[in-house]
Amino acid sequence: MAEIVGVITTSHVPAIGGAIAKGLQHDPYWAPFFDGFPPIRQWLAQKKPDIVVMVYNDHGLNFFLDKMPTFAVGAAPEYRNADEGWGIPQTPPFAGDPEFSWHLIESVVDEDFDLVSCQEMVVDHAFTLPMALCWPEMKWPVRTVPVVINTVQGPLPSAKRCFKLGQALGRAIRSWPGKEHVVVMGTGGLSHQLDGERAGFINKDFDLKFMDSMIEDPAWATQYSTTELVELSGTQGVELLNWLAARATLPDKVRKAHANYHIPISNTASGLMLLEPAV
Ligand code: DHB
Ligand code: FE
Repeated sequence: MAEIVGVITTSHVPAIGGAIAKGLQHDPYWAPFFDGFPPIRQWLAQKKPDIVVMVYNDHGLNFFLDKMPTFAVGAAPEYRNADEGWGIPQTPPFAGDPEFSWHLIESVVDEDFDLVSCQEMVVDHAFTLPMALCWPEMKWPVRTVPVVINTVQGPLPSAKRCFKLGQALGRAIRSWPGKEHVVVMGTGGLSHQLDGERAGFINKDFDLKFMDSMIEDPAWATQYSTTELVELSGTQGVELLNWLAARATLPDKVRKAHANYHIPISNTASGLMLLEPAV
């Protein structure tokens, strides 16, 4: 049976790509963010996962406002990076795992989730930057499965539904007959709002409570409606739904192996967590 060896959750601000391209990792503005990642890389080097299941939101690149699936899963042999307009360098194409993808899709649909399955897919910064932060050498030693949650255009799936999707994904991964080690990632957040009257909004109290809940009380955020989550964390802070689904692939009891929180990078409160199943 495949095993989920850990969950990594991180922000995915596009400017990270610019900072990497310019070699600004040690710049005083960027260091508090980039300094969070060496422990994650050491852990990955030790665990050597085979597959990354990446829970993220598409920002209008693969899906636009005219066609917006609530949940979509990739089943392509290869994924291409494109960019919806941030001008950041693009990563080379990278490997999917169609067989594993179809197993996840079939298992989760069997649990009554209505997914869009994508045999071709371009992916944006919300996928590629977290990968580049984990494996800066840019030859990613894993196969990947994209899982896309609509956090962009209402109506959004509820936190409760995203949590249940994560639980179903966890069961699906564990029921794969192979012996692969799987890391589930969730990207986006934490609090940020890029537009409107509250542009620049950040809510540190809420972020820290949410990060605590990821360890001790994983369903905590499901008490809130998506409107309440937008109020609490900002219009784009609601990307935390991706964190929630990723977290829910693990059992209730986890061990925090690493965490970092820093305000701001670009317009965003950046958060980073590495959770392992408790032994
Ligand atoms: C920013 C954050 C995001 O999550 C995103 O998708 C785009 C921009 C930002 O803070 O600049
Ligand atoms: Fe985003």
